[in-house]
Amino acid sequence: MPSIYLQTFGCQMNVADSNGLAHQAWSMGCTFTDAPESADILILNTCAIREKAEMRVYSRLGQLKALKRPESKLLVAGCLAEKDRAVMRRKAPQVDALLGPRDYQQFKALLAQWGVPTDLPPPQTPLHMPSSEDAPGEDAPLEYAHLRSLVSITRGCEKFCTYCIVPYTRGPLESIPPDDIEAQIRREIRCGAKEITLLGQNVNSYNFGGVDFAGLLRRLGRIDALERLTFLTSHPHDLTRDVVDALAEVPAIQPRLHLPVQSGSNDVLKAMARLYTIEEYLDKVAYFRERLPGWALTTDIICGFPTETEADFQATLSLVERGTFEYAFVFAFSPRSGTPAATMTPQVPQEERLRRLQAVSAAQNEQTRRFHERFIGETVSALVSGPSKKDPTRMAGKTGHNVTVVWPRTDAAAARSPVANLVIEQAQTWGLVGRVA
Ligand code: 5AD
Ligand code: SF4
Repeated sequence: MPSIYLQTFGCQMNVADSNGLAHQAWSMGCTFTDAPESADILILNTCAIREKAEMRVYSRLGQLKALKRPESKLLVAGCLAEKDRAVMRRKAPQVDALLGPRDYQQFKALLAQWGVPTDLPPPQTPLHMPSSEDAPGEDAPLEYAHLRSLVSITRGCEKFCTYCIVPYTRGPLESIPPDDIEAQIRREIRCGAKEITLLGQNVNSYNFGGVDFAGLLRRLGRIDALERLTFLTSHPHDLTRDVVDALAEVPAIQPRLHLPVQSGSNDVLKAMARLYTIEEYLDKVAYFRERLPGWALTTDIICGFPTETEADFQATLSLVERGTFEYAFVFAFSPRSGTPAATMTPQVPQEERLRRLQAVSAAQNEQTRRFHERFIGETVSALVSGPSKKDPTRMAGKTGHNVTVVWPRTDAAAARSPVANLVIEQAQTWGLVGRVA
C-alpha cells in the first residue's frame, strides 16, 4: 500500500482540509507515516496568510528535496499552491503537483495517476494519521485527539479585506447544506467527539436555503448528544443580535467569541475595508457582554497597516488597555502581493510594525493575566488534551473559555476521562494551574 507523509501549515481550516484529504487517501487504501524519507507520497498543506508562513513552507520544501526518495511524489496543497501556482515550478522544481483549496475533488484522480489502485475494497483498519509539525493540537495523543472535531460550514470568503489573500486563494463564499453539517456532526459524536468547532472564514455569512448562522446554531443545539459546540471566525459586520441571542439560548455553545477587530482606528478600518466603525464594533460588544456576562471575547489585531499613524496605533493600544479583550492574536502587517494593501502608501517601516506589535502584545498580556486571575479558587471543567508537552507529570486541557490548564497527573487522569473537574490554584499569562476537584 502506498504510504503518505502529510504535513499541515496554517489555520484550522487547513487542518480540517487535511483531515478530508487523509480520509480520501485512506479510503483508497493508503497508509500514513511521519517519516518523509520512507513515504511514497509527500503532501504539504500550505498557508499564505503572511510572508512568514510562506517562508516556512519554502524552507520545508528545501528540506524535503533532500529527504525524499527520487521516485516518491511531492504534492503542495492549500493556499500557497493557489497563490504561487505560476512561480512554484521555478521556486521549487521538486514539486510534482499543486492542488489549491478548491481543487480537492481532483485528489483521488491524482493519486490514481500516481499509481494508487482505485478498485481495492475499503480498508479494515481505522484511519490513523500521525500528527504533523504544524497542526494545532498536534501533540494530542491518539486517545485524546478524537475528542475535538472540526466541521466546515462554509468555504471561501468574499469580504475582500484589503490586506487578505484568502478570497483569492479560497474563492467565493459557499455554504454547506445544514443536513450535511448535522450528519457529519452526528458521525463525529459517534466516533467519540466531545467538542465540535464549526469552521468558516466568516461563519456569520452562513446562509443555505434561508437558514442563517443563528438558525444553524439553534438547529445544531437540538442534537442531544452534542456536549460542546464552538465556532471560528466571525466578521463583526455580519454578527447580528440574533446570533448573540442564539449563543445565549443554546447551552452546548462554549462561553467564548472570537471577533477580530483588526484596529481601533476608524481611518485604518476604512482603509482595510472592514465595513464597520469602532463605535459599531463596541456596540456589538456591549450587547454581547450584556447578554453573555463572563464569556471570553478574543480578537485579531494587525499592527502597522499601511497609512497607520501614531495616533491610529494609540487608538488600538488604548482599546486593548481598556480590557476590551480576554485574549488577542497580534500580527505585524505583512504585504501580500495582489492585495490592495500591498501597494498602499505610505507603508509603515517593518521595525515600527514590530515596535507596535510588541506594545500591543504586552498590553494584552497584562489583560489576559488579569482575566486568568479571576478563576483562582473556582472549579472549572476542562476537556483533556493529554499529558503536558513540557512536563509529562502533568495533564493539560482547555476550559470552556479556551484557557489552557495543567494539573498533576492522578489516577483519575490516568483513567483517561475526557473531561476533568479542577480547582484553580494559580494564574499565569499562558494559562492556569489547578488540581483535581
Ligand atoms: N498581514 C498581517 N496579518 C494578517 N491577517 C490576515 N492577513 C494579514 C496580513 N496580510 C491576520 C488577520 C486575520 C488573521 C487570521 O490573520 O488579523 O484575522
Ligand atoms: Fe488558512 Fe488563511 Fe493560511 Fe489559507 S491563508 S491556510 S485560509 S490561514
